[in-house]
Amino acid sequence: MLKTEFTSLLMQWHKKSNRREMPWKGEKDPYKIWLSEIILQQTRVEQGWNYYERFIEKYPTVQQLAKAKDEDVFKLWEGLGYYNRCKNLLFTARFISKDLKGEFPKNYDEIILLKGIGPYTAAAISSFAFNLPYAVVDGNVFRVLSRVFGIETAIDSNQGKKEFTKSADEVLDRKEAGAYNQAIMDFGAMVCKPVAPTCSNCILQKICIAFKEGKVNLLPFKEKVLQKKHRWFYYFLMEHDDKILVHKRTQKDIWENLFEFYLLESAEQIKWNDQLVHQWLNEQFALRDADVISISSVSTQQLTHQKITGQFIKLKLKKVPASLQQYQWQPVKKMKLLAFPKFINQFLEKDLK
Ligand code: ADE
Ligand code: SF4
Repeated sequence: MLKTEFTSLLMQWHKKSNRREMPWKGEKDPYKIWLSEIILQQTRVEQGWNYYERFIEKYPTVQQLAKAKDEDVFKLWEGLGYYNRCKNLLFTARFISKDLKGEFPKNYDEIILLKGIGPYTAAAISSFAFNLPYAVVDGNVFRVLSRVFGIETAIDSNQGKKEFTKSADEVLDRKEAGAYNQAIMDFGAMVCKPVAPTCSNCILQKICIAFKEGKVNLLPFKEKVLQKKHRWFYYFLMEHDDKILVHKRTQKDIWENLFEFYLLESAEQIKWNDQLVHQWLNEQFALRDADVISISSVSTQQLTHQKITGQFIKLKLKKVPASLQQYQWQPVKKMKLLAFPKFINQFLEKDLK
């Protein structure tokens, strides 16, 4: 089962190779977890780190925070912005201190009732502090799940939110929910990153649908991007031993059943140069010894409903990495027997001259 394999591989990675260190990691005190999660909303980890440590030092318990003066807390918050987060933090600290006698609620249904706490934060506190089986669903989780399982539903649609929440719940390690949630967040931040994920060094590569189908840069989908009519196609002409990698387009998309070269589709323009090509080859395929023969100029084709802009990058490979062996490798001489889209033919004609 793909789902159980995903969970077990991710947990293995977490236990053996996850080197990310953060001051709130492994923390069991729900107050401290809550504080860290509120600070980290709309704030990068590197920036939140110091704020968290200063807060914990000055207000080590929820009662101490509840007793603090508003101005002192706002002062400590200075620079983080989104002051509503800080106001809600104080409000809830005082509520817990007075109405709940200083005791942080111990189950999801009560935690989510607290002001300033939504499903994400409630799942984080429930799982990290009490090991309750609630999956966190945030940007990292959307990205990892959409890539590994090839989910193309837009993450900013209602349907997408439903589907990803369901899928996140299905792959949750229910016995070790806290460790699992930390694992998927760290994995999304360290390996399956938004830009330039390190697929070549990824334990999920063998099951990852986005990787298999060359859609890593396209996922997760967003409705806004879907409406975008401008697509960037970067074709890599990978040659080895007088053979060239080709791929037959099968998806419901333009150019169905036509052949193409290795495609990296991007929602935005990429400014390629030799160095970037080498970096990408290394990150995607662990290829360190390919030669970059040429990088073409940019060409454009206007189709009825979309504009394709792209470039052709010619490579000579000294060996074929395992992750590219599942593709068809055709003799270069036979290339003219294959049906390519016009966009590719135009390049080939120019290139042969
Ligand atoms: N972002 C928000 N909470 C986090 C956590 N516990 N670990 C890593 N990144 C996070
Ligand atoms: Fe993410 Fe690449 Fe790993 Fe797939 S192979 S999970 S896209 S890093």
